[in-house]
Amino acid sequence: MTRGSLLVDHIGELVTNDGRDGDPLGIRRDAALLVEDGQVAWIGSARYAPAADRRIDAGGAAVLPGFVDSHAHLVFAGDRAAEFAARMAGEPYTGGGIRTTVGATRAASDGDLRATVGRLRAEMLRQGTTTVEIKSGYGLTVADEARSLRIAAEFTEDTTFLGAHVVPAEYADRPDDYVGMVCGPMLAAAAPYARWIDVFCERGAFDADHARAILACGQAAGLGVRLHANQLGPGPGVRLGVEMGAASVDHCTHLTDADIDALAGSETVATLLPGAEFSTRSPYPDARRLLDAGVTVALATDCNPGSSYTSSMPFCVALAVREMRMTPAEAVWAATAGGAAALRRTDVGRLTPGARADLIILDAPSHLHLAYRPGVPLIRQVLHNGVPR
Ligand code: NIG
Ligand code: FE
Repeated sequence: MTRGSLLVDHIGELVTNDGRDGDPLGIRRDAALLVEDGQVAWIGSARYAPAADRRIDAGGAAVLPGFVDSHAHLVFAGDRAAEFAARMAGEPYTGGGIRTTVGATRAASDGDLRATVGRLRAEMLRQGTTTVEIKSGYGLTVADEARSLRIAAEFTEDTTFLGAHVVPAEYADRPDDYVGMVCGPMLAAAAPYARWIDVFCERGAFDADHARAILACGQAAGLGVRLHANQLGPGPGVRLGVEMGAASVDHCTHLTDADIDALAGSETVATLLPGAEFSTRSPYPDARRLLDAGVTVALATDCNPGSSYTSSMPFCVALAVREMRMTPAEAVWAATAGGAAALRRTDVGRLTPGARADLIILDAPSHLHLAYRPGVPLIRQVLHNGVPR
C-alpha cells in the first residue's frame, strides 16, 4: 500500500546532516522536503517544491532529523526515587541499586513490563526521538533476560543483551559461574531477540577478562558489540571496546590520553550520557577533548530508573552544550547522526533522499533553541516513517 506523498513546506532551517560544504549539519534555508513511502524522496528550495497529496506548512520553523537515542534501559519495574533523593543529599552513586531494580523486574508481569516500555517510548517520541536502542539487564536469569528482549523487540530493531549488567545476588560468591551462564544458556535464549551485546565493564561489575569473554561469545553468536565503559572511574573498558571493534563505548566519563588515542584511531563511537552525570551529581565527560582529537561523539539519554531517569534528548543536548562545552551544532549532530553511527545505521539520523522520513518540526526557527531554551517543550510535530505522530 502506498501512503501517498507528503510535502513539508516553508522550512526556515532544514538540518540534513549531509555534511556538505564543511557544515556537518548540512543546513539548508527556505527549504522543503518530500516524503514518499516513509522515506525522504526529495529535498530542495521551497520555491521548487513538487506537488504532493498532502502538505504540512512548517511556517518558517526549523526541521531536524528525529533524535537517535542509542542507549536506553527501558525494560524494568519500579523506580528508585528515594535513592535519587539520598544522592542529592550527598550519597555517592555506586550502581548498587541495580539489584533493587532486578528484584522488582523479576516480580513484574510481562504486561507490566510492556506497559512501562510503551509509556517511555511514547514519552520519547513526544520529545522527538524516532529511533531508540533498548537494553535488557534487569532480569539476569535466562528467562527474565529472554523476556526482556522479547518485549524490547516489540518496540525497536536495536535490542541489546545486557545479561552482564551486574552479577546477581545469587551468584555473588561465584562470578565465574555467572559469566559461564551468560555465555551459555542465557546468550542462547537472548540472541534470537538481540542485535547487540553489552557489558558493564567497571569495578564492582565485570572486569576486562570477563567482559572480553562475554563480548567474544556474543560476537560468535552474531551480535554486534557495545560497552558500558569508564563511567565510575578510569579502567580498561574503552580500550577493550576499541580492541573488540565495538560500535560504541558508552559513558566515557573518566578517560586517559591512551583511551582518547585508541578511540581516535578507531571506528568506535564515544557515546556520552550527560543525564547520568546530572542524576548522579558526577563530573561530566570531557567532550571537547574527544571532539578535538577527532573522535565521533554521540549523545544518548541512558534512560533507566537508577542513574538517569530522563527520556529527553533535548535535555541531553542542553546539558552537552552548557556542561560539556559542545557547540549547539555538535550536540545536535551527536544526538542525531552520532546516535545513528553508534548503532551503525545509515537510514536514520539524516534527512537526505533515501533516509527514513523521521523528522522533528520545532517550535523555533533554529536548532540553537534546543540549548538556548532548555526545559521548554519545543517539539511541535514528529514524523516517524513519514507518518505524523
Ligand atoms: O548506564 N552503569 C550501568 N548501568 C546503568 C545504570 C543502571 C542503574 O543504576 O540501574 C547506566 O548508568
Ligand atoms: Fe547504561
